[in-house]
Amino acid sequence: MAKKLNTIGVITTGGDAPGMNPAIRAVVRTAAFYGVKTYGVEKGWFGAINDHIRELTAHSVSGIIHHGGTFLHTKRCPEFKDKNNRQKALANFKKYGIEGMVVIGGDGSMRASMALIDDFKFPINVVPASIDNDIPGTDFTIGFDTAVNTAMEAIDKIRDTADSHERLFVIEVMGRHNGFIAADVALVCGAEIVIIPEVKHNIDAIAAKISKGRQRGKESFIVVVAEGAESGVSVRDKLAKRLPDMDIRVSVLGHIQRGGSPSAFSRELAGKLGATAAELLINGKYGQLVGTKSDKVCPVPLNKVNRLVKKVEMEQLRIAEMLSS
Ligand code: F6P
Repeated sequence: MAKKLNTIGVITTGGDAPGMNPAIRAVVRTAAFYGVKTYGVEKGWFGAINDHIRELTAHSVSGIIHHGGTFLHTKRCPEFKDKNNRQKALANFKKYGIEGMVVIGGDGSMRASMALIDDFKFPINVVPASIDNDIPGTDFTIGFDTAVNTAMEAIDKIRDTADSHERLFVIEVMGRHNGFIAADVALVCGAEIVIIPEVKHNIDAIAAKISKGRQRGKESFIVVVAEGAESGVSVRDKLAKRLPDMDIRVSVLGHIQRGGSPSAFSRELAGKLGATAAELLINGKYGQLVGTKSDKVCPVPLNKVNRLVKKVEMEQLRIAEMLSS
């Protein structure tokens, strides 16, 4: 029989994502339901190492369900790669009697959690939360849907001015290593071109496609580029050389994609995944990435997915391209 836990921790790590707050709420309220004590670790792994830990009650998480960001705060923490620092974090957890942790975060958080599990067999369940959607073992991450909607609203507005001025806009979206946001917004905004890190792009071919479009009477164009493929400014400069009579502007959407009130979908995911991750942990089942598969909550062993790479659906790019011509 798996040992039940009486005290757990919850932490948000890496880049924030809209939906982290409802995920924290779900963990804390689930623990309260089972009579289990919860501690919140503030400022991500930095707070774990430096003892920024406080007790959270069901009441502490009132009024946060609709807020973007994370009320526990987060920090990039390269120091956590050092085993001595992980040891310090563990000592702090022990000080409060924390027997296991729900980690809410992205791919870096998953790797850091694996290190804690491998080093100290510390019980952890990970809830995938990142605007990038690049975590293997889950169809969606918390925050991705909100980020796509934020980018979509921004691009729709840019489309209005692009049409009025008959301009080409290069729009840079987030995605350091992947093009999930870019591929989704290209489809939902009808972008003429999408550039993502996973697919080699050819600026001459892109310029030729735009020229063809102009010959057919198209007057404005949206080129969506994921930051990890090339910067928007660089794409603009290269296109300007090849299309000298085209009025070209660039817009970098940046961190607005990370903020804002979580969408219904991000909140729903946060509620289901946070609650399941906490329930499993409390009941002695851990080492899981608690994500979704075909709309169902689906925990998978972390050590089976942490080395996999999640890929953008090429079929989606094909359809986006076909519909934008
Ligand atoms: O959270 C992931 C991400 O949004 C990437 O898409 C982006 O490159 C990065 O975070 C930016 O991180 P920071 O805010 O630390 O500069």
